[in-house]
Amino acid sequence: MRTIEPSLAKAFAGRFQIGAAVGGVLPDALEPAERALLAQHFNVLTPENCMKPGPIHPERERYDFTAGDALLRFARGHSMAVVGHTLCWHQQCPSWFLADGIDRSAALAELGAHIRTVAGHYRGQLQGWDVVNEAIADQGDYLRDTPALRAIGPDYVQHAFQLAHEADPSAELYYNDFNIEQPGKRERTLRLLDSLLESGARVHGVGIQGHWLLDQVPFDDIASAIASYRTLGLKVMITELDLDVVDRPDCGADVAVHRAYAPAEDVYRDGCPAVVLERQAAQYTRLFEIFAAPETAVTRVSFWGLHDGRSWLNNWPGKRTNHPLAFDRQCQPKPAFHALLEAAREAR
Ligand code: XIL
Repeated sequence: MRTIEPSLAKAFAGRFQIGAAVGGVLPDALEPAERALLAQHFNVLTPENCMKPGPIHPERERYDFTAGDALLRFARGHSMAVVGHTLCWHQQCPSWFLADGIDRSAALAELGAHIRTVAGHYRGQLQGWDVVNEAIADQGDYLRDTPALRAIGPDYVQHAFQLAHEADPSAELYYNDFNIEQPGKRERTLRLLDSLLESGARVHGVGIQGHWLLDQVPFDDIASAIASYRTLGLKVMITELDLDVVDRPDCGADVAVHRAYAPAEDVYRDGCPAVVLERQAAQYTRLFEIFAAPETAVTRVSFWGLHDGRSWLNNWPGKRTNHPLAFDRQCQPKPAFHALLEAAREAR
């Protein structure tokens, strides 16, 4: 009998890619066991930080491609695709970039220089780019109040997509955001995507980040949001998946939120109880059933981190010991991993 190699990427092959976000300068940023884990289970990588505006363009006349180039070399050596993250974001952005008071034409020139240089550097080498990240307001209006909106106006998004297309015509171009499965933000996102498509911009897909909380996953909203984005003819991806087991205030995934360390809230610092890990596995299974269903089929599911020890949720919104991913700190499969393999078998 042929044994099924337990690889997440192979288990879901033909349905969607399985990705992970990775930080630091590869390969040294990871231990050998971590590199082996990455190579076995994932077929697409997202740079966790190094292609963001701040790290890659620290000074007006200086770009730093060291970590991004290393990630691409690593990915190529392991036959993995790479998705660039991200060309235009108000966070992790140099303070001089689109600084207050800049006029529209100077701002467009700055945005243009950034996108042309960064997307141009990786031209032809990336599967796609998260062109604009988190442009939609959490509440109320339409677009988030950001330096790009203030300096350029609402059509900055359209300009960013046009510039990205010119710099790397073969890359797929995505809009990426959190909570855009939820009514309200979903309608604002549909409005943005509609206006992009109407303007003739090349937009290929939308990324739902997927930073969800255990026991509070909005399954129905996720299914209906994916279906409505798909009716626009766009690819839908889950781009930053994790299932936080430590409660956090309702702050979506806004990296600007900071909470002081509260030992009483660090409930799983000595390990996560088996019963919680089982609930997590069941909720991951339900998610992947949605992701694999024909009307909500997504093209990629990327976890935000390789294993629990590498998750940003150990540091955000404050320091805590988290257990949000499919592998534990020793790179061992968790109940969630086994549940996902089972879900892949059921989906066949
Ligand atoms: C996070 C990284 O994981 C952290 O290392 C960094 O300190 C802050 O940013 N949404 C995004 C990601 O689009 O870029 C963020 O990544 C997590 C939330």
